[in-house]
Parts: sequence; structure tokens; C-alpha cells
Amino acid sequence: MRDGKAGYRAVFGRLAHVTFPVIGVVGGGQLARMMAPAATALGFELRVLAEGDDVSAVSAVSSSPVGDYKDLQTLLDFAQGLDVMTFDHEHVPTAHLRALQDAGVNVQPGPDALVNAQDKLVMRAAIDRLELPNPAWASVQDVEALVSFGEQTGWPVVLKMPRGGYDGKGVRVISSPEEAAGSAEWFEAMSPLLVEAKVEFTRELSALVARTPDGEARAWPVVHTIQVDGVCDEVIAPALDIPVEVAAAAEDAALRIASELGVTGVLAVELFETPGSGAGFLINELAMRPHNTGHWTQDGSVTSQFEQHLRAVLNLPLGATDALAPVAVMKNFLGGDNQDLFSAYPLALASEPAAKVHCYGKSVRPGRKIGHVNLVGSSTAEVESVRQRATMVANIIRDGRLTAEEPPSTFEENA
Ligand SMILES: Nc1ncnc2c1ncn2[C@@H]1O[C@H](COP(=O)(O)OP(=O)(O)OP(=O)(O)O)[C@@H](O)[C@H]1O
Ligand SMILES: [Mg+2]
Repeated sequence: MRDGKAGYRAVFGRLAHVTFPVIGVVGGGQLARMMAPAATALGFELRVLAEGDDVSAVSAVSSSPVGDYKDLQTLLDFAQGLDVMTFDHEHVPTAHLRALQDAGVNVQPGPDALVNAQDKLVMRAAIDRLELPNPAWASVQDVEALVSFGEQTGWPVVLKMPRGGYDGKGVRVISSPEEAAGSAEWFEAMSPLLVEAKVEFTRELSALVARTPDGEARAWPVVHTIQVDGVCDEVIAPALDIPVEVAAAAEDAALRIASELGVTGVLAVELFETPGSGAGFLINELAMRPHNTGHWTQDGSVTSQFEQHLRAVLNLPLGATDALAPVAVMKNFLGGDNQDLFSAYPLALASEPAAKVHCYGKSVRPGRKIGHVNLVGSSTAEVESVRQRATMVANIIRDGRLTAEEPPSTFEENA
């Protein structure tokens, strides 16, 4: 499939003297979709291996064959003609990633790095090995082992499926030995499971970095992320009033994880802020792809996480990660009452002309991530107003009308 120049090929026949790379993304969710504008701007060809012909990226990426990412032959076929294969999610079986590499496919991030984002037990062991701050944790085979962990560290504890979870699915708080007994069916579905102490955090934070195969790395400012029912709801960039040494240590931890685990592309390190104890934070989990907590970079940073991911997996020099404004807010909207999202645009866009709406082209289902709103502010003192205005735009689109809803309780909590 290649014509001459190693690693690059003539993408467009009519521009035969121009060579640009072809990037293949496994998974056609909103993350793949949002890579498309960056690929277009830089002249790269993006292809997506989609789960179905109606997934988010399909309407934004012209080459989006449908295929099963759990089938090795499908992945090998998709790899034909690619300069690099990367991912929209973590769910490609690790053995397939190794087989792809053995077949000469340039997989970024590679399986040895990615397994730490695929398997939370592998990740906890890696964080211990790097002597970075983990909550108390254990690998548990059965209810009895779960109960003994709870008795030792104190209830409640958090039980997690090590593989396959997302948006809080596969995460369960267990408050007593009686409740632990109720988790027997989880052990039947998967064993061992991960159990962790339930962390008393003041905020959730995210440290986002990108790294190239040659080892160049850059970090964005550490952000504050607000989860509702285990789903990222809102991000405030940067995390305000975070002690400089805590922000610096969190950024260092993310850069160290990236380099020691050989991560390429974007890495998000989800953190719990624990003031006055240890480093001031504990590590929650890792994601090796653009991440919901980095969507603010589309409109709030010199280089968006989507562009940076493409540059990084292609081993190109990384872009500047400076913020464009003193504060940026990202507010997600999930599927709600309004099925006809566009009908709400006149009201939503008029309500806040500075808001940037990102809609994922997905059908509306309750609780499903279908879009987000980014809004920047000209001073950190404005943060509550920026949050309220971004929330208003998101709510109008979700509900199809202006709702006189109370702001979420987190407004007060985080004021
Ligand atoms: N040990 C813990 N202590 C307290 N809260 C926790 C703990 N682990 C998880 N949580 C809460 O549950 C949320 C989801 O957990 P986690 O990030 O592990 O799951 P996930 O489904 O993989 O998430 P994601 O959507 O980020 O992939 C966290 O953001 C946090 O709010
Ligand atoms: Mg998480």
C-alpha cells in the first residue's frame, strides 16, 4: 500500500507529489469524531473503524468502515495503508494489539502502555511500582476477601471491575459486609476484582499530558472535574486555588507515568485531591486517548487535545499547551427530554454568543453523553458566572427550552 517514502504515502492521487500520513482510529465515538477537524486542518487523512454505521464519528469522517474491534482479522484489514493506528477507547483486546504489532502495524499507544488503561489492577500495581500515591487497594477473588479488606481499611470501600468499565459503570460503593455479600454476581462475571478504600476527597482533578514515541512531552494545566453519578459533568480549567506545589506534583506524576509506562498520545490521569495528606492527591485512574476532562482545550488552549493526540502518535513536535484565557469551563450535556437538539439551538446560541457548542451527532438516549459546551472567562473571579452561563446553554439544548432549574448543588460546594 505504500509508495516509496517509508511511513508516508501519497494520500490524494491528484496531489501525487504531496505526501501526508494516514491515521486510523479504532472506535467511532465522539473522541474519534473530534479528531477530524484537527486532521483536516493539518492535511492528514483520518479513517475510523466504526462499531456501526450510526456511531458519532461516521458522519464526520468519510472513511469509516464498520467492523468488530474484537476481531483480529478486521483490525488487520483496517490497518492496511495506515501510518499509525490509534484509539477512541481502551477496549481492544491486549493480545490483538500485540498481534498487530507483530504484523508490523504502528500501534500508538502500544499494548505495554495501554494495558495500564485497560486493566485497573495492572494500573494500581504500576502506580505502586512508580511509588506514586495510590489509595489503599487490593485484588480480591471473592466476597470473603472483599469483606476482609473492608474490615481492615474501614467501610465504605469501592469495588471495581478491572476491565471494561466506563462512566461509572463497573464501579460500586460497598458500605458493609451485608452489602458485600450482594456483590457475589460481580465476582461471577469477573474475578479478581479491584477494591479500593473510599477516598474522602475535596475535589476530583485531572492532569492531562501528551507524549511522542521519541519522548517529547507536554502538559496542560491541572483541571477540576465534577462528576455526577460517576459521569464527568463539568470541568473548570485550571483547577482554582490549587496549591502550586500540588499542581506541580500532579503534573510531574502524569509526565512520569507517561514516560515510565511508554505512553504515546494523550494521557489523562484522574486524581482525587486530598489536602493535607501525603502529596495532596491520590491517583484514581488512567486514560490513554483524548479525555472528557480535556475537551476544554478545544476552545481554551493553544493546542487542543485532539490535535495534540494526532501530532503525538505521528511523532511530530507537540503544540503549545498554554491556556488562551484565565479560566475555561466545559459543561457536558447528556440525553434528556429533548429529542430534537437542533430545535433548541436558536435559544441556546442566543443565550450566550461566546459559548462554543460541540454536538456529537448521536441519537438522544437518557444519560448518554451527546455534547458539551465550552466557555472561557476573562478573569478567574468570573468563574461562577462562566459556569452558570455554560450550564444554561447546555441545559437549553438538553431540555429543548429554558428551564428555571436550580444550579447543581456543586456550585455552592465548589464556590
Ligand atoms: N476509591 C474511590 N473513592 C472515592 N470515589 C471513587 C473511588 N473510585 C471511584 N470513585 C468515584 O467514581 C467515579 C468513577 O470511577 P472510575 O473513574 O474508576 O470509573 P470509570 O467508570 O472507569 O470512569 P471513567 O468514566 O472516568 O472511565 C470517580 O470519578 C469518582 O467520583
Ligand atoms: Mg474515571
